[in-house]
Amino acid sequence: MKTGRCMSCGAWGTLELETPVLNLKSGKLGKNKMIDVSAAKVISAVDVKPPERIKTEINELDRVLGGGLIPGGVALIGGQPGIGKSTLLLQAAGSVAKKGRPVLYISGEESDAQVALRAARINAASNNLFLSCGSNLVAALASLEKLEDPAFFVLDSVQALKADEDSGWAGTPNQVRAVAQTVIDTAREKNIPAVMIGHITKDGKIAGPMLLEHMVDTVLNFSGEGYSSYRMLRAIKNRYGSTDELGVFEMNEDGLTPLEDKSGLYWNREDKSVPGVAMTIALEGNTPLAAEIQILSSPTVFPYPRRTARGIDLNKFQLLTAVVERRCGIPASRDDLYLNIAGGLYIQDPSADLASCAAIASALKNVALDSGTCWLGETGLAGEIRPVTRLNARLKEAERLGFKSAVISSRERVKNTGFKIKLNPVSHLAEALAFLLVSRRK
Ligand code: TYD
Ligand code: MG
Repeated sequence: MKTGRCMSCGAWGTLELETPVLNLKSGKLGKNKMIDVSAAKVISAVDVKPPERIKTEINELDRVLGGGLIPGGVALIGGQPGIGKSTLLLQAAGSVAKKGRPVLYISGEESDAQVALRAARINAASNNLFLSCGSNLVAALASLEKLEDPAFFVLDSVQALKADEDSGWAGTPNQVRAVAQTVIDTAREKNIPAVMIGHITKDGKIAGPMLLEHMVDTVLNFSGEGYSSYRMLRAIKNRYGSTDELGVFEMNEDGLTPLEDKSGLYWNREDKSVPGVAMTIALEGNTPLAAEIQILSSPTVFPYPRRTARGIDLNKFQLLTAVVERRCGIPASRDDLYLNIAGGLYIQDPSADLASCAAIASALKNVALDSGTCWLGETGLAGEIRPVTRLNARLKEAERLGFKSAVISSRERVKNTGFKIKLNPVSHLAEALAFLLVSRRK
C-alpha cells in the first residue's frame, strides 16, 4: 500500500510500508535493531533439575499430578457439575494450608459463607487458608500480594471470573481466555502453582475455547457414575508426568476419601463360584484392577438368539461367542447370552478376551469355573491365546488379591519367577477350556 507524502521530495502517494528484514549474518533487524543470534542453546546445557513438587498430601491427587503441584505450573480440572471438583480442591487447599504455608482459594461461584461452611464440613478450615469470593479476578489475585510465601492458589472456576471488566459476561470465550492467561502469568511470575476448575459441556469437553487446554500444563478429568459414590481422577494431559495414573475417591458426608485398594471396586469376592463368571485383571491406565465378567445364558424363545453386553463392546462379545462356538465346539445358537462386567467397569483391554471366552463357555455348559483362577490372555480368531501387556503387574495384583492360579498364554515370557501364584500356560482356547469340554451340560 502506498500512502502519505514523502518528507524529502514532497511527492504524494510514494511512501511504502516495509517489514524489517533480519540479516542473519550480522544479526541486525532492519536498520539498527540488534537480535541475539546466539539465543538457541545446546540441549545438554539446559538445567534439568527436577522441580521441587508441592504435595497436597492427598495421595491419589498427587499421584495423578505426577508427584504433586509444580511451582509456576497451572493445572485445569474439569468435570460434571456436582461431581466434587470444589470439594477436592478445597480439601487439597486445606491440607496444604495446615502444613503452614498460606493458600488462596478464589471462588466466583460461591459466597464466603458457603465455602467456609463446606470447609468446616470437610475439616479443611485452617488459619492459613484464605478466601476471596467475587467475580473480579484482578482484585482476587491482588490479595496474593498480602500473603507471605503462598504455597498455591485455586480458581473456582475459570468460567465464573472476569479478568477484564469491559469484555462482557464471565464465561464468554474472550473472558475465559483472558482469565486463564492472567492466572498463568501470575503463577509463572510468582513461581507458585495454580489449579483452575473448569466446567464441561454436554459431550464432556471443557467449556470455552479449546485453546484453554493447550495453554495449561496439566488437564485433569474428574468423573463418576451418577448412582455411585466413587469418583475417578485421570490426567488427560500432563507436561510434568504421565497420563496413565488413575485416582479413585469415595464421596462421603465429610468430603472425598482416597481409595487405595481399587480392585475391591469391581469385585464381589464371592467364594462360591457360579456358572458364567470369570475373573481377569484388567489395566486401567497403569492401574491393575480385578474385573469380574458375568454371563447369563438362557434358552432362546426368538428365531435369533439375543446378545447384550454391558462393559465390553457388543461386536467383540459376538465375535468371542463365535470363537468359542467354532473353536471349542460348544453350540451357542440356541441360547440368549447376556454379558455384564460387575461394578460398571468398561474394558477395552484385549487381555480380557480369554476371561470372556471362559465365561461364555462356562455359562453355556452351566459349569462353574474355579473361583481362585484368573484368566489373562488375548484370544485370536483361530482360538490361539496371545500374550498380554504388563503381565507381571497383573500377576502381582492377582497374587495380592489371593488368586491361586492364572491361565496365561504359552507364548508369554514371564520374567519374574518368584510368583507363588500357579501359572497355567496354554496355547489354544480349547486347551484352556479342556476340563469344561468333557463335562456334560447340566
Ligand atoms: P461440589 O464439590 O460442589 O461439586 P462441583 O464443584 O464439581 O460442582 O460437590 C457437590 C456435591 O457433593 C454435592 O451434591 C454434595 C456432595 N458432597 C458430599 O456428598 N459430601 C461432602 O462432604 C461435600 C462437601 C459434598
Ligand atoms: Mg463447584
